Amino acid sequence: MKSTFIVLLLCQISIAFGQTDPLITDIPNRHTTSLNGKWKIIIDPYEIGFFDYRYEESPWGFFQNQKPVDKTDRVEYDFDTSDSLNVPGDWNSQRPELLYYEGTVWYKKSFNCKLKPGHRLFLWLGAVNYKTYLYLNGKRLGSHEGGFTPFNFEITNLVKEKDNFLVVKVDNKRIREGVPTLNTDWWNYGGITRDVELIDVSADFISDFFVHLRNGTSNIIEGWIKLDKKLLGRRISITIPELTISSSFSTDTSGVASFSLKGSPVLWSPENPKLYSVFLIYNKDTLKDKIGFRSIETKGGEILLNGKPVYLRGICMHEEIPMRRSRANGPEDAKLLLGWAKELNCNFVRLAHYPHNEYVTRMADSLGLLVWSEIPVYWTIQWENQGTYNNAEQQLTENITRDKNRASVIIWSIGNETPVTESRLEFMRNLALKARQLDNSRLISAALEVHHDQKNENEYWVNDPLGEYLDVIACNEYVGWYDGLPMKCDNITWKTSYNKPFIFSELGAEAPYGNHGDNLTRWSEEYQEYFYKQQIKMLKKIPFLSGTTPWILADFRSPRRLLPVIQDGWNKKGLVSEKGQKKKAFFVLRDWYKEIEGKGK
Ligand code: GCU
Repeated sequence: MKSTFIVLLLCQISIAFGQTDPLITDIPNRHTTSLNGKWKIIIDPYEIGFFDYRYEESPWGFFQNQKPVDKTDRVEYDFDTSDSLNVPGDWNSQRPELLYYEGTVWYKKSFNCKLKPGHRLFLWLGAVNYKTYLYLNGKRLGSHEGGFTPFNFEITNLVKEKDNFLVVKVDNKRIREGVPTLNTDWWNYGGITRDVELIDVSADFISDFFVHLRNGTSNIIEGWIKLDKKLLGRRISITIPELTISSSFSTDTSGVASFSLKGSPVLWSPENPKLYSVFLIYNKDTLKDKIGFRSIETKGGEILLNGKPVYLRGICMHEEIPMRRSRANGPEDAKLLLGWAKELNCNFVRLAHYPHNEYVTRMADSLGLLVWSEIPVYWTIQWENQGTYNNAEQQLTENITRDKNRASVIIWSIGNETPVTESRLEFMRNLALKARQLDNSRLISAALEVHHDQKNENEYWVNDPLGEYLDVIACNEYVGWYDGLPMKCDNITWKTSYNKPFIFSELGAEAPYGNHGDNLTRWSEEYQEYFYKQQIKMLKKIPFLSGTTPWILADFRSPRRLLPVIQDGWNKKGLVSEKGQKKKAFFVLRDWYKEIEGKGK
């Protein structure tokens, strides 16, 4: 018995942690079957479904979905008579007893699947927080770490026509070496939080592509189309009917066809979010996508959108629907959150502090909102831990791979409020390098912290050495909330050692909706309103400012906010309350953005 276990384990463990197949993109436009819906679950805080009593990985784990074969049999779990949860969905908002739960939950989904002859099948998951092991029909598919990016596995040789059982072990325990690490100012929602799809493809298929305008031009459309196999000399066509573009190209030894085409698209911008239908044809398969063409660059302290300076009228947002007290997912949620941003007269949103779901970036494409997209390298993670770096780089890669064809996304952020140390600098420098390797058509940034000039306390410097490796210098500041009272804004002079675009990626003050007082009464709407008025006065005086994304669009859940009555587990810096009500400060920011709208920079 022991020997078979070792063999099983060896063949099981051969799949190192975080082992997934190359990411397939453009899922919304592929032949898919949704596995969303009710999934059976087993809540397993002691992980008895994974480890034996010696805390060794057990070959008889819950992934076997065992059933007693006769009356003598002893099987101490049964998915089919167990509870169920909705997928997609965090578990915290679906069960009161799971509100604070951090641990393992097993999910099981049964499905039938008639695969067309010669076709292949992939299992794709939009995101699962945090560490995931996946099994199909008792076989391990692989594992994934990171709660906010997609991953997929080929299951062609494992899937049966009837009674397939997919078992997913999800563990959202916070870990020191994780990304993010132990402490975050957001709720650690666990579960299969985004869509799960079966993707049906031909034997050879287009797995990924990148189609964009060459920066600095208005008429060169370039990119590449990648087959899932390294097939040389295969013809792939690209057509953009509205631009009367139709050309075909051959793949190189790595199965990639690169191209550069002449075309004069109407350029995508928040004022005119024009998207084009792009068709990629390989063999008898056609893959389509809706793509906007725009260029994004910097010149000295300016951000140039389609060659013209732009001021980023932004707001930060979490991927949460406060009224539902749950993770956001789906087009309706995206419309609600981005709709509030549009009401604020925003042309830009900072998706904090992790990649939000693809509905959001596709909605931003069609609504006309520029996007800052970030990976959760948040506060103080383990800079010297190679595993932590690999994980961060993998999340960055998955994020860029998924959203590189979204015109709305202009900035890849590699982190937030990270300390100025040598090991951190090396870590972040490597991430910036990786981001440029993956996509040199966008701007790289990170939310930095301010440093006070010892000699002159009213001189605030943004001179973090990481700035050297970034295209946009972004800084979080809370003058008037964590740093003095709002009047302090009148005395502050801002300095930066970089001749690069400068934005404030956070500024904010906290007030529960309906809590009133005079403008110096902490936690009152009047204080928050006064804070914004004072901040805006200060911002108007900064000649090199290219944008602002105040913290934050809506109140959000946080286990770090424990002040009774005022916070009760919520960070109340939202301009919209947890019930969807607009606070006084909402209108202060809206009116300022109206005032500067159309003024470029
Ligand atoms: C920080 C941090 C946010 C946090 C905010 C706050 O700057 O980046 O995640 O929620 O400040 O304190 O409200």
